[in-house]
Amino acid sequence: MVRNKKNWILPKGVEPTEFDLKVLSFQEKGHLVPPRSLIKTQEQIEGIRRAGEINTGILDMLEEKICEGITTEDIDRWVAEYTEKHGAICAPLNYEGFPKHCCTSLNEVVCHGIPNEEEELWDGDIINVDVTTIKDGYFADASRMYMIGNVEPRTKRLVECAKECLEIGIEAAKPWHFVGEIGKAIEKHANKNGFTVVRDLCGHGTGTCFHEDPEVDHYNTRKKGMLLVPGMVFTIEPMINMGTWEVFCDEEDGWTVVTEDELPSAQWEHTFVMTEDGLEILTH
Ligand code: MF3
Ligand code: CO
Ligand code: CO
Repeated sequence: MVRNKKNWILPKGVEPTEFDLKVLSFQEKGHLVPPRSLIKTQEQIEGIRRAGEINTGILDMLEEKICEGITTEDIDRWVAEYTEKHGAICAPLNYEGFPKHCCTSLNEVVCHGIPNEEEELWDGDIINVDVTTIKDGYFADASRMYMIGNVEPRTKRLVECAKECLEIGIEAAKPWHFVGEIGKAIEKHANKNGFTVVRDLCGHGTGTCFHEDPEVDHYNTRKKGMLLVPGMVFTIEPMINMGTWEVFCDEEDGWTVVTEDELPSAQWEHTFVMTEDGLEILTH
């Protein structure tokens, strides 16, 4: 596919605003700029924020309930019940054939783990629960790590470091700078701690559909990527590995992504809106 770099289009017969001229100045220099459709209105941002509030409520509720002895099927059921009670929809269910309400990714599972009755949580496990809520047509996407009982120190450090990577990514995302800064900062921090960054999966635009532009890589691609313009809504969701960054997808279920060396992986995710002052979290 040929990328259309000249994609900030002025409506016919309307004077360009200062905002238009600013985006156009980047476009004229050959930078990748977002199409106008990626800039959310205030009304859309408020809708995404409301979806975010429910999404956060779910992840908070799970803090109280996740413990040794439960199954990932239990987690799925709690997510489904809470979402329904709040008049919302679980975006993962039936998304490209995904069979459950959320993703539960245990230990060496990087992401997209499928909840099931056979999978029990044991002392020392780490698990990511990734929840995406649709409320009145607006999407919010976030995930957290949960630790069960006594987790090995190095594994605990992996979980903490993955959280720090998200925080560092947030700081690196500046309006009128480029998306590439995010992955550059994240990879530096992960590597400094002896960990690696998954390359095959990325953060993404969201808000009015599940996944859209921009692609938010979490490693240093050595490319600038898309210009970050106020009003863009997207996720950052670094997956940090204990060993190799390489992963594979389970051929049987077509979803579960696992580390190549079967060492643990950790991930944290938020949905943000870019403002003139930097990122604002919509899934707090
Ligand atoms: N929530 C995941 C993300 O962060 C996507 C899950 S897709 C699903 O982008 F189908 F597995 F739910
Ligand atoms: Co996401
Ligand atoms: Co997610």
